[in-house]
Formats: sequence, C-alpha cells, structure tokens
Amino acid sequence: MHIAMIGAGYVGLVSATCFADFGHDVVCVDKDPNRLNTLRGGKIPIYEPGLEELVKSNAEAGRLHFSDDVGSATGRADIVFLAVGTPSRHGDGYADLTFVYEAAREIAPHLSDFTVVVTKSTVPVGTGDEVERIIRDVNPAAQCAVVSNPEFLREGSAIEDFKKPDRIIIGTDDQRAQSIMEEVYGPLCANEAPILFTGRRTAELTKYASNAFLAMKITFINEMADLCERVGADVLSVARGMGMDARIGDRFLQAGPGYGGSCFPKDSTALTNMAQDSDSPLRLVETTVAINDQRRRAMARKVIRACGGRVRGRRIGILGLTFKPDTDDMREAPSIPIIRTLLDAGAIIRAYDPAAVAGANNTLREIEICPDPYAAAEGAAALAVITDWDEFSSLDLDRLRRQMDPASTVLVDLRNMFDPARITGAGFVYEAVGRGD
Ligand code: UGA
Repeated sequence: MHIAMIGAGYVGLVSATCFADFGHDVVCVDKDPNRLNTLRGGKIPIYEPGLEELVKSNAEAGRLHFSDDVGSATGRADIVFLAVGTPSRHGDGYADLTFVYEAAREIAPHLSDFTVVVTKSTVPVGTGDEVERIIRDVNPAAQCAVVSNPEFLREGSAIEDFKKPDRIIIGTDDQRAQSIMEEVYGPLCANEAPILFTGRRTAELTKYASNAFLAMKITFINEMADLCERVGADVLSVARGMGMDARIGDRFLQAGPGYGGSCFPKDSTALTNMAQDSDSPLRLVETTVAINDQRRRAMARKVIRACGGRVRGRRIGILGLTFKPDTDDMREAPSIPIIRTLLDAGAIIRAYDPAAVAGANNTLREIEICPDPYAAAEGAAALAVITDWDEFSSLDLDRLRRQMDPASTVLVDLRNMFDPARITGAGFVYEAVGRGD
C-alpha cells in the first residue's frame, strides 16, 4: 500500500517507520527542512530507543521516504494519515486544531482516486466531521473517507507499543475504508491484535477516555500514597494487592510526583473543556487535573520537610528531569514545578539527567546542569530522584553519599525506585512516597 504520513513528529515518525517496516511504501511529509535533512541523513530528531535503526533500515530498503511535497505524497497514496501536533491552545487549554485543519486543506486538492484520510492526532470529538467538511469544501470531487484511528503509543516504548498494541481503534462507517484499514494493519492482525471498529466520534472520544482514565488511575494511587504515609501503610503493597484483581490490573499504579508529558496533562484538560461545553462535565477528570497540578509543589514541600524545613542557601541535587525515563522530553515534566518551588524557597539546585534538553525551559536556566549524578550531589543537603532512569539503580551509593554535605545526607526517592534498606544501609536518611510502614 502507498501511505502518506503528514507530520514527522513523534506519532508520525514512529507510525511511518513501523508501517514501512510492515512492507508498505511510506512517504513521511514535514515542513521543517532541518527535520527532513536530519531524517534523510539517517538520524532522528527525537529520543526513542530503537527508532533510528528502524528508520535507517527502512529508508535503505527504499520503503520509507522523507519529503516536503504534500501534493505528490497525497496524490499516489491509498491512505493519508494526519499526524500533526494538537498542542494545548495558549490560555484556555483547548486542543489547538490549526495544524490538523491546515493539513486537511493542503491534501484536499490532491485527493483523486478513492483515498482514506485518517486522523492519528489526538483530537476532540467532531474533528473528523470538520476535516471532511474542509476537504469537500476545497475539493468537492474528492473521493475519500475520513477515518479516526487514534494512536496509543508511549514515548520510550513506542515501537513495541505500535507493533504489539492492545487494540487498534478504527472509527468509520465506510466499508471500503474499513477493509483498506484492515489491510494496512494486516501484519498486526496476523499477530492477533484486536481491531475495534466504531463510529468516528466514538473513536475520537475513546482516545481521550483512555488517557484520562490512566491519569485518574495514577492520581488515585498518588493520593493513596499520601494516606499510606499518614496511617502507616505501604503503597507498593497496596498497589500490588489491588493489581492482583484482574478487574483493576497492576499497571499504572506506581505512585510518584504526578503524571507529566505531552499527553496526559494536555488531553485531560482538553477533555474536561469539551465535556463542559457539551453540558456533561467530567468531574472525576476535573478533580484529577487539579490534584495532579497541586502534587508537584507538594513534592517540593516534601523535599523541604526532609531537609528539616529550611533550604535557603542550601544545595539540593536533582536526579532526573524528564517526565519519565527513556525520553528527552521535558514537556509538563514534574521536575519543573518541583524545582521552581525549591528555587523560590531559596535552594540552590544542581541537577543531572541522562537525556534532558536543558535549555528547554526557563526554570532550568536558573539551575546548574551537571555531567553526572555525583557532581549533582556535591555539597548537597538532599538528593531528590524525580525520574527513575535505570542507570540510577547502579549508582555507587558510598561515593554519592561522600559527595554530599556530611551533616545532611537525605535521599528523597519520588519514584520509589530504591530498596529502603539498601539506602539507609549506605548511610542515607531515606524518604520515599507512600511508604509509611
Ligand atoms: C501516554 C499513554 O500512556 C499512551 O497510551 C498514549 O498513546 C500517549 O500518552 C499519547 O496520548 O500519545 P506517554 O505520555 O508517552 O503515553 O507516557 P506514559 O508512560 O503514559 O506516562 C505518562 C506520565 O505518567 C509520566 O509522567 C509517568 O511518569 C507517569 N506515570 C505513569 C506514573 O506516575 N505512574 C504510573 O504508574 C505510570
């Protein structure tokens, strides 16, 4: 099949590469010449384990191409995927659909034979209707079906998530489009990935509902962690015990500093706005958003408490800045509000992260980025683990402690990644999340 993927961002690049790897002929279109040059040179502009090799091998095999020419990519495509960004609109938290509608306008004149136009971007309910309206407006003769096919991949495990999905959601009533979509996902169907065909609006909502539910699940365990600290219980065991119930499931029950990233915060807010506008407010999700916002500052106060209530003029070492491990993404990273609160309380921050793009945020310009964890620990009254990068589990704890202020060797583990006995055995005062027993 011939595929045009409009947008070489996270979802676009991963999807284009995986579809090429299935044997389809894929043209990935982007407007950014630097991005295209990077990709044509066999490098990838994002951090995603395994992706660079896959891009290279499929490009070399002649199945994956990068282009800025929307017209020719669309003209020869059986399927055009729209995988452009839907950022949060400044000020009001609604999804900004400018790029989606612009892409619809650009592809419209080039739709000749029957083409399936698929929205992969996360979009509010009704966006597919508007994309179809735009296409018919620009090109009344266009033969196409507009389909919603939301993507459920996670940063850091995107290829695995794409190739072994829990499900594929395809929102369309058009029979022809359904069979073309079945064909494009053929190799996955052979792996028994279930396809759920729904209406277009239902598919659009399913994506938001899934993300909001996961955000709610995380927020639930985070609040439970706070309660564990008060009543002398252990959130790890509570989560394990809950997760053994197949109706609950054990995933996304890790207590921590609050969820971040480019999806959960943005999508939950966009969903609550959409629900309010539909006179059907989602109060659980609204509360989830509010709790998560407050949680990051609460985590900073936890660090301050662990330092005896005073951090002015004292050094605090931060381990991990990205919103989760295996990504360089700093969008909505909990580290930013945590660091902001610590800076406002007068602390001096030195941080280490294996991948974070440091200049990404103004707050990060006020801190010192260190080349390794030991440098971040130098003279520190406390260390706070904000992101559970694997490499932190093999830290030389003696060396780490010796770097710190001998009068205060506090380690606040906001991800519960360490064994408490091992840390206290190495001479630290250990503070975790929800481990009150
Ligand atoms: C999320 C969803 O998991 C994907 O299914 C979805 O496709 C994607 O959004 C999207 O909409 O594009 P992602 O943002 O890459 O994926 O990251 P997650 O692994 O879901 O983590 C989100 C946040 O929740 C991170 O800050 C993570 O640290 C936090 N988290 C996750 C917890 O605090 N506890 C957990 O148990 C799990």
